[in-house]
Amino acid sequence: MQAELEEIRKDAREKLKEAKDTADIERVRQKFLGRKGVLARQMKMLGTLAPDEKRAAGKLANELKEKISAQLSVRLEELREVKSGGKDGAPFDVTLPGKKQPVGKLHPITQTIILIEKIFGELGFRSVRGPEIETEFYNFEALNTPGDHPARDEQDSFYIDKGILLRTQTSPVQIRVMEREKPPVRIVASGKCFRRDATDASHSPMFHQVEGLLVDEEVTFGDLKGVLGVFLERMFGADVKTRFRPDFFPFTEPSADVSISCIICGGKGCSSCGGSGWIEILGAGMVDPEVFKKVNYDPEKYVGFAFGMGVERIAMLKYGINDIRLFFENDMRFLSQF
Ligand code: PHE
Repeated sequence: MQAELEEIRKDAREKLKEAKDTADIERVRQKFLGRKGVLARQMKMLGTLAPDEKRAAGKLANELKEKISAQLSVRLEELREVKSGGKDGAPFDVTLPGKKQPVGKLHPITQTIILIEKIFGELGFRSVRGPEIETEFYNFEALNTPGDHPARDEQDSFYIDKGILLRTQTSPVQIRVMEREKPPVRIVASGKCFRRDATDASHSPMFHQVEGLLVDEEVTFGDLKGVLGVFLERMFGADVKTRFRPDFFPFTEPSADVSISCIICGGKGCSSCGGSGWIEILGAGMVDPEVFKKVNYDPEKYVGFAFGMGVERIAMLKYGINDIRLFFENDMRFLSQF
């Protein structure tokens, strides 16, 4: 009889584990503890036993009855908790609509930077970052722009201390990379830049640039045109035309100002492109040998090109945004559209 009781104990435990709702529990109760249940049947059989055995088995049977009954209550409680969504939770109505969780997203400027870096990444350019607080050496001098250079005029901006300023361009990252790496170099560097510009629809004292630099032994202006051409087509569509015009930057020679055909009017001329059909989009050129000298690259051996673009300008063109200030007002009605 003891062996049978042991079997019953195991069986009851199994059945309880499987029970999924109160109806299941009730069935288990009936089966084991009910008037015609398994235990009741055992109790009846007690009468057939010898007095000694009867007492021992009777004790065991009673204990088992209590045990199963306790386990039933525990399981019932467990099932209630699951249903109400937790120990202290109120009853949970699965048909109620859920509470909306506000989901954040990346700022359109960040999205644009990621897209630019992705396109250049596929062309073999590695993404790097540099500091936003720079020394005059990296921001100007190493870029062939000494203190009395007129090109400093429009960029002598936010000085923190003597010789230390908020970078006015991402070009200093070129120097930092070349100082620590030997050619071939192929990088893009993105991030914030700062200039003493009065805020208007197209100017902000804080803005973003993406810089590119490629240095190797045989690099031509044709390579620069090819790389930028592919980039601009990927960014603005295969129909876009590119135009290179001579320009000046202290750290590139020759330098170019690169435009795309106006994506609003397709090049016919409209108010967005000032009637010219073209939109200036980035500065570029072949790395000036003077810059190579500053980083101990042999200017006889190495050639390179560099380019820099304003991220806000690219994003404004791509998404049809007409005021740069919208990016920095943090109005969710604007930001959530991207
Ligand atoms: N740093 C330049 C600017 O801010 C852009 C540039 C980068 C031009 C690299 C040439 C090469 O105007």
